[in-house]
Amino acid sequence: DTAMYSVEFEINGEKRTIRVRAADVLLYTLRDKLGLTGSKSGCDNGDCGACTILVNRQPIKSCLMLTVEANGKQITTIEGLMNSPVQNAFVQNQAFQCGYCTPGFIVNCEGLRNVHPHADEETIRVWLESNICRCTSYEEIHHAVKDVFSAK
Ligand code: FES
Ligand code: FES
Repeated sequence: DTAMYSVEFEINGEKRTIRVRAADVLLYTLRDKLGLTGSKSGCDNGDCGACTILVNRQPIKSCLMLTVEANGKQITTIEGLMNSPVQNAFVQNQAFQCGYCTPGFIVNCEGLRNVHPHADEETIRVWLESNICRCTSYEEIHHAVKDVFSAK
Protein backbone atom coordinates (compact mmCIF):
# COMPACT_ATOMS: atom_id res chain seq x y z
CA ASP A 1 0.00 0.00 0.00
CA THR A 2 1.24 3.49 -0.85
CA ALA A 3 1.29 5.86 2.12
CA MET A 4 -1.20 8.72 2.03
CA TYR A 5 -0.53 12.22 3.31
CA SER A 6 -2.95 14.85 4.47
CA VAL A 7 -2.65 18.20 2.68
CA GLU A 8 -4.53 21.31 3.75
CA PHE A 9 -4.70 24.39 1.55
CA GLU A 10 -6.92 27.22 0.48
CA ILE A 11 -8.06 26.97 -3.10
CA ASN A 12 -9.91 29.82 -4.78
CA GLY A 13 -10.85 31.11 -1.34
CA GLU A 14 -12.07 27.78 0.03
CA LYS A 15 -10.24 25.71 2.67
CA ARG A 16 -9.73 22.09 1.58
CA THR A 17 -8.13 19.06 3.18
CA ILE A 18 -7.31 16.12 0.94
CA ARG A 19 -5.30 12.93 1.15
CA VAL A 20 -2.70 12.29 -1.52
CA ARG A 21 0.30 10.13 -2.28
CA ALA A 22 3.81 11.54 -1.91
CA ALA A 23 4.38 11.51 -5.68
CA ASP A 24 1.07 13.13 -6.69
CA VAL A 25 1.59 16.13 -8.95
CA LEU A 26 -0.47 19.22 -8.13
CA LEU A 27 -1.79 19.71 -11.70
CA TYR A 28 -3.37 16.26 -11.64
CA THR A 29 -4.70 16.63 -8.11
CA LEU A 30 -6.43 19.83 -9.23
CA ARG A 31 -7.83 18.27 -12.37
CA ASP A 32 -8.65 14.72 -11.28
CA LYS A 33 -9.34 15.03 -7.58
CA LEU A 34 -10.77 18.52 -7.24
CA GLY A 35 -12.49 18.79 -10.64
CA LEU A 36 -10.64 22.00 -11.53
CA THR A 37 -9.97 21.17 -15.16
CA GLY A 38 -9.24 24.74 -16.31
CA SER A 39 -5.52 24.20 -15.70
CA LYS A 40 -4.24 22.26 -18.71
CA SER A 41 -1.43 19.85 -19.34
CA GLY A 42 0.50 20.85 -22.46
CA CYS A 43 3.94 19.39 -21.85
CA ASP A 44 4.21 18.11 -18.24
CA ASN A 45 7.70 19.50 -18.33
CA GLY A 46 7.59 23.15 -17.26
CA ASP A 47 7.88 24.49 -20.81
CA CYS A 48 4.44 25.58 -22.04
CA GLY A 49 2.72 27.35 -19.11
CA ALA A 50 -0.72 25.81 -19.79
CA CYS A 51 -0.80 24.52 -16.20
CA THR A 52 0.03 27.87 -14.54
CA ILE A 53 -1.61 28.57 -11.18
CA LEU A 54 -0.92 31.10 -8.42
CA VAL A 55 0.65 29.84 -5.20
CA ASN A 56 0.65 32.57 -2.56
CA ARG A 57 -0.07 35.01 -5.46
CA GLN A 58 3.00 33.97 -7.50
CA PRO A 59 2.69 32.09 -10.79
CA ILE A 60 3.83 28.48 -10.59
CA LYS A 61 3.76 25.70 -13.17
CA SER A 62 1.61 23.13 -11.41
CA CYS A 63 3.00 20.24 -13.50
CA LEU A 64 6.29 20.75 -11.65
CA MET A 65 4.87 20.93 -8.12
CA LEU A 66 4.03 18.04 -5.84
CA THR A 67 0.68 18.28 -4.12
CA VAL A 68 2.30 17.80 -0.70
CA GLU A 69 4.35 20.96 -1.36
CA ALA A 70 1.10 22.93 -1.48
CA ASN A 71 0.38 22.21 2.18
CA GLY A 72 -0.54 25.43 3.99
CA LYS A 73 -0.46 27.48 0.78
CA GLN A 74 -3.04 29.73 -0.85
CA ILE A 75 -3.80 28.63 -4.41
CA THR A 76 -5.68 30.37 -7.20
CA THR A 77 -6.59 28.60 -10.43
CA ILE A 78 -8.25 29.98 -13.56
CA GLU A 79 -11.61 29.04 -12.00
CA GLY A 80 -10.90 31.62 -9.28
CA LEU A 81 -10.40 34.40 -11.86
CA MET A 82 -13.85 34.27 -13.38
CA ASN A 83 -14.99 37.76 -14.46
CA SER A 84 -11.66 39.24 -13.35
CA PRO A 85 -10.28 42.32 -15.15
CA VAL A 86 -7.69 40.08 -16.85
CA GLN A 87 -10.29 37.63 -18.14
CA ASN A 88 -12.43 40.51 -19.39
CA ALA A 89 -9.46 42.06 -21.23
CA PHE A 90 -8.78 38.72 -22.98
CA VAL A 91 -12.42 38.48 -24.03
CA GLN A 92 -12.50 42.07 -25.27
CA ASN A 93 -9.32 41.62 -27.31
CA GLN A 94 -10.34 38.17 -28.58
CA ALA A 95 -7.00 36.98 -27.24
CA PHE A 96 -7.59 33.26 -27.72
CA GLN A 97 -8.23 30.68 -30.40
CA CYS A 98 -8.29 27.07 -29.27
CA GLY A 99 -8.29 28.14 -25.63
CA TYR A 100 -5.89 25.47 -24.52
CA CYS A 101 -3.18 27.92 -23.55
CA THR A 102 -5.50 30.76 -22.51
CA PRO A 103 -6.02 29.78 -18.85
CA GLY A 104 -2.24 29.78 -18.34
CA PHE A 105 -1.84 33.21 -19.96
CA ILE A 106 -4.64 34.70 -17.86
CA VAL A 107 -3.29 33.25 -14.60
CA ASN A 108 0.25 34.36 -15.47
CA CYS A 109 -0.99 37.88 -16.24
CA GLU A 110 -2.75 37.98 -12.87
CA GLY A 111 0.55 36.89 -11.31
CA LEU A 112 2.34 39.72 -13.11
CA ARG A 113 -0.10 42.20 -11.57
CA ASN A 114 0.78 40.80 -8.14
CA VAL A 115 4.54 40.84 -8.67
CA HIS A 116 4.95 43.97 -10.87
CA PRO A 117 1.80 46.10 -10.51
CA HIS A 118 3.24 48.74 -12.89
CA ALA A 119 4.86 46.47 -15.46
CA ASP A 120 6.04 48.22 -18.63
CA GLU A 121 5.81 46.81 -22.14
CA GLU A 122 9.20 45.09 -22.03
CA THR A 123 8.46 43.46 -18.66
CA ILE A 124 5.14 42.18 -20.02
CA ARG A 125 6.83 40.76 -23.13
CA VAL A 126 9.52 38.93 -21.17
CA TRP A 127 7.02 37.70 -18.55
CA LEU A 128 4.78 36.14 -21.18
CA GLU A 129 7.68 34.14 -22.61
CA SER A 130 6.88 31.46 -20.03
CA ASN A 131 3.64 30.66 -21.89
CA ILE A 132 3.41 29.03 -25.29
CA CYS A 133 0.48 29.55 -27.66
CA ARG A 134 0.60 27.43 -30.79
CA CYS A 135 -2.06 29.42 -32.63
CA THR A 136 -0.01 32.56 -33.43
CA SER A 137 -2.35 34.90 -31.58
CA TYR A 138 0.35 36.56 -29.48
CA GLU A 139 -0.56 39.96 -30.86
CA GLU A 140 -4.04 39.91 -29.32
CA ILE A 141 -2.68 38.44 -26.10
CA HIS A 142 -0.20 41.31 -25.80
CA HIS A 143 -2.96 43.83 -26.47
CA ALA A 144 -5.11 42.25 -23.76
CA VAL A 145 -2.32 42.30 -21.18
CA LYS A 146 -1.33 45.87 -22.09
CA ASP A 147 -4.96 46.91 -21.62
CA VAL A 148 -4.93 45.44 -18.13
CA PHE A 149 -1.89 47.47 -17.16
CA SER A 150 -2.92 50.69 -18.82
CA ALA A 151 -6.29 50.53 -17.03
CA LYS A 152 -4.55 50.88 -13.67
FE1 FES B 1 3.13 22.55 -17.13
FE2 FES B 1 3.47 22.63 -19.75
S1 FES B 1 2.06 21.44 -18.63
S2 FES B 1 4.43 23.88 -18.24
FE1 FES C 1 -4.38 27.69 -29.09
FE2 FES C 1 -3.10 29.20 -27.53
S1 FES C 1 -5.07 29.57 -28.35
S2 FES C 1 -2.52 27.27 -28.13
